[in-house]
Amino acid sequence: MDELLTGSVIAVNGPIVKAVGLKGIGMFDIAEVGPDRLIGEVIRLAGEITIIQVYEDNTGLKPGDEVISYGRPLSVLLGPGLIANIYDGIQRPLVGISEVCGSYIRKGIKLSPLDTAKRWDFKPLVSSGTEVKEGSIVGEVQESPLVLHRVLVPPGVSGRLTRIADAGAYTIEETIFVVDTASGAFKGKLAVYWPVRKPRPNKNRKKPFVPLITGQRVIDTFFPIARGGTAAIPGGFGTGKTMTQHALAKWCNADIIVYIGCGERGNEMTDVLTDFPKLIDERNGRPLIERTVMIANTSNMPVPAREVSIYTGVTIAEYYRDMGYSVAVMADSTSRWAEALRELSSRLGDMPAEEGFPPYLGTRLAEFYERAGLVETLSGADGDITIVGAVSPPGGDFSEPVTQHTSRFVRCFWALDKTLADARHYPSISWIDSYTEYLIDIEDWWKNLDAEWLATRNEVMNILLEDHRLEQVVKLVGSDALPPSEQYILFCAEMIKNAFLQQNSFDPQDKFCSPEKQIKLLKSLLTLYKKGLERVHAGVSVKDIAALTVVSEIVRLKSEIPNQDLAKIDEYVLRLEQGLSALKPPS
Ligand SMILES: Nc1ncnc2c1ncn2[C@@H]1O[C@H](COP(=O)(O)OP(=O)(O)O)[C@@H](O)[C@H]1O
Ligand SMILES: [Mg+2]
Repeated sequence: MDELLTGSVIAVNGPIVKAVGLKGIGMFDIAEVGPDRLIGEVIRLAGEITIIQVYEDNTGLKPGDEVISYGRPLSVLLGPGLIANIYDGIQRPLVGISEVCGSYIRKGIKLSPLDTAKRWDFKPLVSSGTEVKEGSIVGEVQESPLVLHRVLVPPGVSGRLTRIADAGAYTIEETIFVVDTASGAFKGKLAVYWPVRKPRPNKNRKKPFVPLITGQRVIDTFFPIARGGTAAIPGGFGTGKTMTQHALAKWCNADIIVYIGCGERGNEMTDVLTDFPKLIDERNGRPLIERTVMIANTSNMPVPAREVSIYTGVTIAEYYRDMGYSVAVMADSTSRWAEALRELSSRLGDMPAEEGFPPYLGTRLAEFYERAGLVETLSGADGDITIVGAVSPPGGDFSEPVTQHTSRFVRCFWALDKTLADARHYPSISWIDSYTEYLIDIEDWWKNLDAEWLATRNEVMNILLEDHRLEQVVKLVGSDALPPSEQYILFCAEMIKNAFLQQNSFDPQDKFCSPEKQIKLLKSLLTLYKKGLERVHAGVSVKDIAALTVVSEIVRLKSEIPNQDLAKIDEYVLRLEQGLSALKPPS
């Protein structure tokens, strides 16, 4: 429907506007409001009344002002040029906007999300006459040095390809293929619109089985996430949520990163916007932005833009998933998103539920996380989306509604611990309160590296759990009251924390730890535990073991041995075993 509907404003409550007269308008359609034609979206229909949330500053808007709509849903424009771009919540390019309006966003400005003048080198991959169906790949464009953009037949389109452009340079507005469909000729371009709130279809969902390798030991080894999985990072202010998401964006082995920023601090997004484009992907020496799309909500943007930003982000992620890629979505922080939802819902007059959040908070969070997954795409390839959402509970209290609801929908929970952060133990992911449900799913992948991976991981985890239990005892009676074997557990747990769990994002060697290195470090710690315990049972004191130089060296392996030189860890383990064997009990 492209017919023009007109109506008029009857009430304005912050960004929420009521209008009448827009007969035939649909839910989630775009409405342009007032003399500046501010972008809004229909979020509720109540008889004659249309309720619109406005994505731009609407001060001055008043009853009687005109509202128009073409009956088109609020959509994301998907095509080459997304990568390396930075958008606001409704996909307006921030760089483009600042070039046009300077440092502030002029009201009602309409800019294409993608450069319409740029010519992309298109390479056809099928010839005219071929039968194509939704999801078929008809050609490709090198979008950035890191991303090969596949041009797909959009969902819902199938038939005989009657025309395909020759290899050459085309803009996103030119027709590059034509499909003869049952309902007429479909003209395909490099870019397509997709409604922002509607998940893109796929053939079927599969069980994730490949881990998302992040290079962060506490995650990969203890609380791994699968590609296509969901994780939450809850943590109070300053505990390391943003740092963790940055580490993941830098190091994880996804093909594409979609970073949705809703900054906690006023200037935080500005930092991200200036810093992120400078980061280098150290595996290939290319700027990280060449595989990244950023959605940024700075604090001066209207609240509804924050609410819709996560849908904009995840729709872009689905588009790349459909090309057969692995996409990782970072949302920082979903609490700021939930607060936007709360504010809008209260202006709508909804009955508030816990802590003023709307009763549908849980449903909305579930719908967001459900868009993660490993799927068979329409073209038959595998593609996946992993979603990692930061949650910032006020006062670090995990019993609040956003953390509680989120924990029901994610299968991986990286709980940040303020005590660890205060002690400068980073990443401050608690090994007691965190959990993952992906261990069994990804076990086979790790088994290819080491058959004993899961057993080793569990044995080391048990030392940490035992340590946690013993610490409660020590608080009551002191460590001297423990038998030597239990004192030795406390000692080994301390070594595991220092040599393995702690990882410095600023250390050139330690910031990324390969899976192979993680296993070797883990096994060297288990050797320390097992061999050492034998000596303790033989009468050697924990103090003598702790005093061995070779034992204290274990904490330096992570930063001194490069990922490429793992034989050095084997040599170390040999020396460790010799050192421990040489210890004789006092006669
Ligand atoms: N993995 C890490 N390595 C080193 N320092 C860290 C790490 N994680 C957090 N930090 C420190 O903690 C500070 C706050 O982290 P940040 O991610 O901004 O917290 P949050 O987003 O939870 O408010 C950082 O500026 C940094 O100094
Ligand atoms: Mg933060």
